[in-house]
Amino acid sequence: MLRTHTCGVLNIKNVGQSVSLSGWVQKSRDLGGMTFVDLRDRYGITQLVFNMETDAKLCEKARKLGREFVIQAKGEVAERSNKNKKISTGEIEIIVSEFVVLNKSNIPPFTIEDETDGGEELRMKYRYLDLRRNPLRKNLELRHRMSIETRKYLDSQEFFEIETPYLIKSTPEGARDFVVPSRMNENEFYALPQSPQTFKQLLMVGGYDRYYQLVKCFRDEDLRADRQPEFTQIDCEMSFVDQEDILNTFEGLTKYLFKTVKNIDVTEFPRMPYSEAMQLYGSDKPDIRFGMEFVEVNDVAQNKGFKVFDDAELVIGFCAEGCGEYSRKQLDKLTDFVRRPQVGAQGMIYVKCNADGTFKSSVDKFFDQDALKTWAEKMNAKAGDLLLVLSGEAEKVRKQLCELRLEMGSQLGLRDPKVFKPLWVVDFPLLEWDEDSGRYHAMHHPFTSPKNEDIDMLESDPGKVRANAYDMVINGVEIGGGSIRIFDKTLQKRMFTLLGFSDEDAQAQFGFLMNAFEFGAPPHGGIALGFDRLVALFGGSDSIRDFIAFPKNNAGRDVMIDSPSAIVQEQLDELKLRVVKDGK
Ligand code: AMO
Repeated sequence: MLRTHTCGVLNIKNVGQSVSLSGWVQKSRDLGGMTFVDLRDRYGITQLVFNMETDAKLCEKARKLGREFVIQAKGEVAERSNKNKKISTGEIEIIVSEFVVLNKSNIPPFTIEDETDGGEELRMKYRYLDLRRNPLRKNLELRHRMSIETRKYLDSQEFFEIETPYLIKSTPEGARDFVVPSRMNENEFYALPQSPQTFKQLLMVGGYDRYYQLVKCFRDEDLRADRQPEFTQIDCEMSFVDQEDILNTFEGLTKYLFKTVKNIDVTEFPRMPYSEAMQLYGSDKPDIRFGMEFVEVNDVAQNKGFKVFDDAELVIGFCAEGCGEYSRKQLDKLTDFVRRPQVGAQGMIYVKCNADGTFKSSVDKFFDQDALKTWAEKMNAKAGDLLLVLSGEAEKVRKQLCELRLEMGSQLGLRDPKVFKPLWVVDFPLLEWDEDSGRYHAMHHPFTSPKNEDIDMLESDPGKVRANAYDMVINGVEIGGGSIRIFDKTLQKRMFTLLGFSDEDAQAQFGFLMNAFEFGAPPHGGIALGFDRLVALFGGSDSIRDFIAFPKNNAGRDVMIDSPSAIVQEQLDELKLRVVKDGK
């Protein structure tokens, strides 16, 4: 062994012991008579000391150590005179008697410390160096801990972890597939799974009534802070269950993770129908760490001569508690915010509820004090509050107000990353209308079952049919989603027809599943949690990238290995592929 201890364990109790440590030189300080070297490994940092008086040769050698050199040092643990209370090894240092350079290093392109001077792109290119930094190390440790605890919990609930294949055919999760050409089957392609959806359903037919897998999924879609082209799911499926069983099981997993990983007791896990989420928050993933629920005010705002409101399908707003003193500048900033193209509102109306019981609004011309009072009453506002109101086309205006609500929540510090408010959003619509293709799409996926009481409307009023589908939302982040599946071949066929699949198409794409349903498929359902998102949430971040060892950048590139990249002609020939350049 090249070490007796790691760089994070030695403390005052070890004083006097002879030890051997190995690691990277984080930095060295030459103070004339003494040279100090901070030696780092995954576990921490230990200070090494070289003394010119006791061993000048060794000290000279130590002075030549560069940043990130890998060394092994032997010496004795001594109490430090200048203690560093911030780190666990801060009370001791090692008086080095001998050391060897195990490997040299080029000068690193950025400082490998908690606060680095490296830009994002540079750190992505040298990800292996970035991984040496404490913040990333902590994130990956958190990820590891959460995967272990997830497995422990699901194992205790009799779930089997079963691997499903990566070279499959298209799965209908709504994104584009990544495809892989097959050398042995000319002109044919595998698709990488967008999720193991069909396989986990087949496992249910196979009798494995509780399945899970921490599994890579691949989706060719536009990337954002919470989206990567390859990501990991905690994917699960259960047989002989109803929606309630699934919600309870995964509520259990979530509570268990909060308790074991963060020592947080999650007591409340409310359920909210999709329709209510849209009505109160304009979002199917509301952040319920704070209120500011929407109130529709058409009845008090319209027909008072203000054309913008009169022409609007919906006039809607919320009350920002205690913001009645907002300055002109602050209000202008909010107006600019809603006018940004990403939000897209035309403007914003405000009503200040003054401390003396009067009102001041941006529409005083059209609404007198009495009229504004009715607004305030309707929106549950008291003196000192601020009403923010938007109007327009119902669906759009709800989304815009949702953005404004989140912005206000952030500005007021109501979105504390250390506070966690989970929520189940249930009763999603089965279908959503797609303007581009002029037909209905499955809102979750085509295997999701309609609610029994709504089945009769499948053909007559498909847009109204609700699904046995649910999302787990925590702090406004969609952590997971799932559904109770259709397990009856006739209903599945009806569903495919509704989605515009011809019998032949349905058979070609999903024949294997429909055939399996002819052999005694049990009632089943499941869920998949986005593991990267869950870890990032636990780590207090919106971005999943820093919780993945080797992520892609926003253009879907791995800049470290330079991928995707061209392949050589032989490989193309073998695969019978031809590269088309400039259309030729
Ligand atoms: P769904 O498509 O909702 O459901 O995905 C489940 C969860 O996976 C996460 N997720 C992502 N995370 C990072 N990057 C991405 N590109 C990405 N896409 C999705 C989200 C999401 O909630 N087969 C169904 C589940 C089921 O019905 O059982 C499915 O995949 O957190």
